[in-house]
Amino acid sequence: MSEAPAPVVILISGRGSNLQAILDENRAGRLPIEIRAVISNNPDAEGLQHARVAGVPTEIINHSDYAERSLFDAALMQAIDRHAPRLVILAGFMRILGEAFIRHYAGRLLNIHPSLLPALKGLNTHTRALVAGAKQHGASVHFVTNDLDGGPVIVQASVPVRTGDTADTLAARVLHEEHRILPLAIRWFVEGRLSIHNGQVLLDGEIRPEQGLVAVPKQRTEATK
Ligand code: GRF
Repeated sequence: MSEAPAPVVILISGRGSNLQAILDENRAGRLPIEIRAVISNNPDAEGLQHARVAGVPTEIINHSDYAERSLFDAALMQAIDRHAPRLVILAGFMRILGEAFIRHYAGRLLNIHPSLLPALKGLNTHTRALVAGAKQHGASVHFVTNDLDGGPVIVQASVPVRTGDTADTLAARVLHEEHRILPLAIRWFVEGRLSIHNGQVLLDGEIRPEQGLVAVPKQRTEATK
């Protein structure tokens, strides 16, 4: 296929390692997207530097410049829409978005969340997984709806919780998987392979099993048994 790469906008708030994973896949020619802008609500987000190094335009819409969330959301929408993206990607974007925003991008707004949704919605998922004594933890990519962290799941990856894990060691193991499944879900989307039917995600017309939990072939060389 020689279609033009899909225009996307990526929103970040911090470190930007998921953004870097997307930039890497894109540069390697495995992700047919044109990243029109990286927008951060946090002027000090480290991830902005990753975008600059890659030559991607950056913008800051600082939430603390707005008296109300609806005004911040409106400014953000305006900034995004100037780039006419087919897809908007929340890659570690840490602000809750309002209804009007979510409605405007319905079906083309993806988020990565560090848990096996629907388990552990919200913050501090790694600590909460440890406290709950979970044996498995992981990450999910989902379409964003007004149900916070509750939108239809596209793909998940699980990791074992090991004896002696701390929130940091567990987070690192999960993050490794995030960097694999977020670009994968983006690729499926821009290739036109995803759809939503009755609130469920379909890939190539097949309903994703168990809220999206599937074995995703690993491209790494290390043993995964
Ligand atoms: C990731 O764990 C992501 O799942 C969560 O926030 C973290 C962002 O990390 N939403 P980074 O900024 O992509 O490094």
